[in-house]
Amino acid sequence: MNLLKKLIDWVDVRVGIREVADKQLTGYLLPRTINVWYSLGSVLLFIFVIQVVTGILLLIYYVPDADKAFASVNQIMNNVPFGWLIRMCHAVGSNMMVLVLMLHMLSVLFMGSYKSPRELNWLTGFILFTLVQGVSLTGYLLPWSQLSFWATTVATNSANAIPVIGPHLVEFLRGGKLVGPHTLGRFFALHVAVIPVAIAGLIGAHLFFLKRTGISAPPFGQKETVNQWQGDGYRYESHPGGIPFFPNFMLEDLRSIAIYLALFLAVVFFNPYLFFPSSAFEPANPFVTPAHIKPEWYFLANYQILKIFPNELIGLAVQGAAMTFLALLPFIDRGRERHPLKRPLFLACAIGGLLVWLGLTVWGHYS
Ligand code: HEM
Repeated sequence: MNLLKKLIDWVDVRVGIREVADKQLTGYLLPRTINVWYSLGSVLLFIFVIQVVTGILLLIYYVPDADKAFASVNQIMNNVPFGWLIRMCHAVGSNMMVLVLMLHMLSVLFMGSYKSPRELNWLTGFILFTLVQGVSLTGYLLPWSQLSFWATTVATNSANAIPVIGPHLVEFLRGGKLVGPHTLGRFFALHVAVIPVAIAGLIGAHLFFLKRTGISAPPFGQKETVNQWQGDGYRYESHPGGIPFFPNFMLEDLRSIAIYLALFLAVVFFNPYLFFPSSAFEPANPFVTPAHIKPEWYFLANYQILKIFPNELIGLAVQGAAMTFLALLPFIDRGRERHPLKRPLFLACAIGGLLVWLGLTVWGHYS
């Protein structure tokens, strides 16, 4: 203990580490009315770290070659010590990340924290949302199973409907006319390097904006925020008399992470194949199209939209419009009020939108 104190003293004399800790940890005050939804961001950070660590471990034995990929994944599952655990954590974790991401998005939506001055938080978050979907899509191909091959064929095919550039885009994504070894190479590079690095950078930007604006106070309960933004120049929204981030809120974060871990490990140990249809266990065969090829649960609504419209271009346009609307929401919904019950139009649209999405997802699952 004494040695630790001496070490901290040594560093403190040189870099003033205690001052940083006072300012960023014990002196970083959060609103007293803060609730459990505010811990989802930390849960997401935790999941991202787990994905990176398990992903690096998988890289030791995975072979990104169309002739060897499927066998290398089988090798990881059956012969590498604890390989099955690492792979299951990575595959289940990717689904859980999308789920928690959606909950985090819903919480900032309903509490109105996407509104001015937090547009940049929302925008960086929105890009993170698309990147996380991108990293999942590219990861899906890597085991080179029937599911990988055909889901990627269907997903990349839809871009064909874009006028003029569509077919070129599909060829560019696939590295040829059809999904094949070149697609695997591209998706591998995107999945293990390009997208994760972009995600890490965007998380940095997301947290930087959060630090600069100050965290929002929930729209419920007493208002104790001072220096509230009025649209007239930069202000840091502070919460004097609030609770310190360390140790108080960090413990709340840790509790949410523990609850998440319990749920996550329950799936990993008791129902590891929850997210795996049977075509995930057969090697890719370009000559045999499986009867039912479905994307992951979070793409089922997109998949169903493409099926509903007779023309794929209209289906793509509807999705593009919905995504653009969501991305630009803070610039469209500009009212100051953040309490959901005092924003009836927002509440009706949000619940309506959510029900439509759920309905399309269930429909996509059974269609
Ligand atoms: C990898 C993905 C993400 C990570 C790691 C992340 C992390 C965080 C963290 C740590 C916070 C602060 C605490 C909290 O409110 O939870 C936060 C706040 C916020 N996030 Fe995210 N986030 C991610 C994705 C998103 C997405 C997809 C959106 C919405 C499109 C979003 C929008 C926001 C907003 C608006 C805030 C400000 C909340 C406030 O000040 O009350 N984030 N995020």
